[in-house]
Amino acid sequence: MSDRPLIQLVDVSKVYHLESGDFTALDHVSLSIEENEFVAIMGPSGSGKSTMMNQLGILDVPTSGQLLMDGKNVATMTNLERTHMRRDIIGYIFQKFYLILLLSAYENVEYPLILRHKQRDTTGKAWAVLKSVGFDEAMSAHRPN
Ligand SMILES: Nc1ncnc2c1ncn2[C@@H]1O[C@H](COP(=O)(O)OP(=O)(O)O)[C@@H](O)[C@H]1O
Ligand SMILES: [Mg+2]
Repeated sequence: MSDRPLIQLVDVSKVYHLESGDFTALDHVSLSIEENEFVAIMGPSGSGKSTMMNQLGILDVPTSGQLLMDGKNVATMTNLERTHMRRDIIGYIFQKFYLILLLSAYENVEYPLILRHKQRDTTGKAWAVLKSVGFDEAMSAHRPN
């Protein structure tokens, strides 16, 4: 375990520029999350939870302030490095899931492993996680719909 936070927001603001004027969705937010820490972000609708999650998932960039991942400033990373970080380090479950409708449940779970290793999963990892949430082989063959 490293001595620095795994995820750190430093004085992060996010301003949306609208025709009606600027709207500040995140107003100088600082937050540190340690390895193995479990954090819930709560607040009323429109309070900026999704805006903050988009920052933490490196799906959006702050208007000002910094996002550090394992001590590394995301702003100084190349696009490819950010892509690898999203692929290898960050697990992100969207409210709308965004499962790939053409793929089976098994293939949806296996897909990030294929992106990473450029081959089908031979380690059994995809099966293991499906089994851990109660999926048997028949269910794993179903497509999302
Ligand atoms: N892409 C956007 N463009 C303009 N305003 C936005 C955008 N996304 C969110 N907002 C505004 O920012 C505020 C926070 O939204 P959001 O982060 O979705 O809140 P929450 O997830 O807590 O409901 C809301 O007022 C919302 O209308
Ligand atoms: Mg939301």
